[in-house]
Amino acid sequence: MALAENTRNLTKLANVNPDAILNRLNDSIARRMPTYRELYLRWERLNWSVADLDFSQDVRDWRNLSEHYKERLLWTLAAFYVAEQRVAATLTPYVTAAPDPQQRIFLATQCVDEARHAVFFDRFFEEVVAAGDGDLAKRLRSGRQWVGPGFAPLFDDYLEDIAQQLRDRPGDIVAFAKAIAVYHIVIEGVLALTGQKFILAWARNANILPGFRAGFTAVARDESRHVSFGARVIRDLLDQDPSLIGPIHEGITETTTLGTWLYQPPGGDVTYTSAFGYSLGDLFNYGGIQLEKKMRAIGAPMPEVDIFTPAMEAPWPPDNAGLVPSDVRQRMGMRGIGLLGRVAPRFAPGVAMMTLHFAFDAAAASGLDALYEFDLEGPGGGLFTVAIKDGACRISVGPGAREPDVRYELEAATWVAMTEGLVTGDEAILLGKMRIRGDVSLGRRFGELFPARGDPRWKTTMPEPGDGGSRSDEAPARSQGDGRAA
Ligand SMILES: [Fe+2]
Ligand SMILES: [Fe+2]
Repeated sequence: MALAENTRNLTKLANVNPDAILNRLNDSIARRMPTYRELYLRWERLNWSVADLDFSQDVRDWRNLSEHYKERLLWTLAAFYVAEQRVAATLTPYVTAAPDPQQRIFLATQCVDEARHAVFFDRFFEEVVAAGDGDLAKRLRSGRQWVGPGFAPLFDDYLEDIAQQLRDRPGDIVAFAKAIAVYHIVIEGVLALTGQKFILAWARNANILPGFRAGFTAVARDESRHVSFGARVIRDLLDQDPSLIGPIHEGITETTTLGTWLYQPPGGDVTYTSAFGYSLGDLFNYGGIQLEKKMRAIGAPMPEVDIFTPAMEAPWPPDNAGLVPSDVRQRMGMRGIGLLGRVAPRFAPGVAMMTLHFAFDAAAASGLDALYEFDLEGPGGGLFTVAIKDGACRISVGPGAREPDVRYELEAATWVAMTEGLVTGDEAILLGKMRIRGDVSLGRRFGELFPARGDPRWKTTMPEPGDGGSRSDEAPARSQGDGRAA
């Protein structure tokens, strides 16, 4: 199996552990960045054909899936489907903008790959999703009907703007550096590969959809090659001109911000990811690690991203063998979590809960084994479990494996107000806005485990009932667009 990720045999690819592909990518760029020629030859060697995929078992598996799973799977897969169409359409300006002929050759192969990925999803949607459903087949013009509102701002507006700048100014190295950071490092290296990994792991564990798994693994393998190329380009560009780190960081920050919105589930329903065995927190955390690994391999500092705070203070250019310290990924404060949740109007409470582990202070939790249950009432709420054990925290939807040690009952709007630093837990209790049951001393420790950082300006007034919620509702969809344009 170790060599299976190198195979041309598509059937074998269905059983490759998706982690193997990502580990291989991260190891290979960390050890020695491949040359453009090596990447081209790898493309030749690992070419695959959509026509070779056999979807016959997939059709049966899809029919047996419950509506609950179908709906959730379609939300994810449709985003990949339409995204492949969008990236295939926006990549050609990169070919002409690349300064080095070897880069242009590789980018030409990538155009072929992206077109093939779009064809792969065409086949899957037509032959598996719409199979036996004549009505759906008729309506199936594209996967657009299933993608969420976070899709268009990233793929239709932002990526299109980036591509347009390359069309307008093909010789502009600043625009090119930023465009590679956006497309190769974040869209492919963080957003796509992370989502692919979780979906593939789920289908593999459930032993279903073998044709899809084979094709999607081949897609992931292609994407990992594209990411290697992007890392190489960024490193070469920075070698020539270290000041390009500015536009590169800008592209990463803007795209990551839009990416968190892309992954907001419909109606704030976190079961859109937890149904597949992972939480939004897992997804964001894994994506953050992927980004960190790419930047470390490149030898560049992490940018200040919304989910990483505060700004990195490492000097640029780096002075110690090009490596940045491993602790560059900063923990996010509770307020940051609240703000992250706000990018999804009306869904904020559940999303903020699932990203709570960004604020987790592992040192404060050493030796602690505790289960906290949150019952958040009202829009965007739900039942959540925060399990602390061995210095790690795991956040899940629904009740935990045993009775909770502490149970909190509060309005979802109050939770949002707390994460945004508008009210403390003590104040919420005093004002009758929150009830704690169970082990009170463990309950009081929760604040140490997830400290609010860097914001001493606590307001002492409690928002009016519903005010916290509407505050989060108000976070206008527009502000995303405005923010990134700034
Ligand atoms: Fe692709
Ligand atoms: Fe790609």
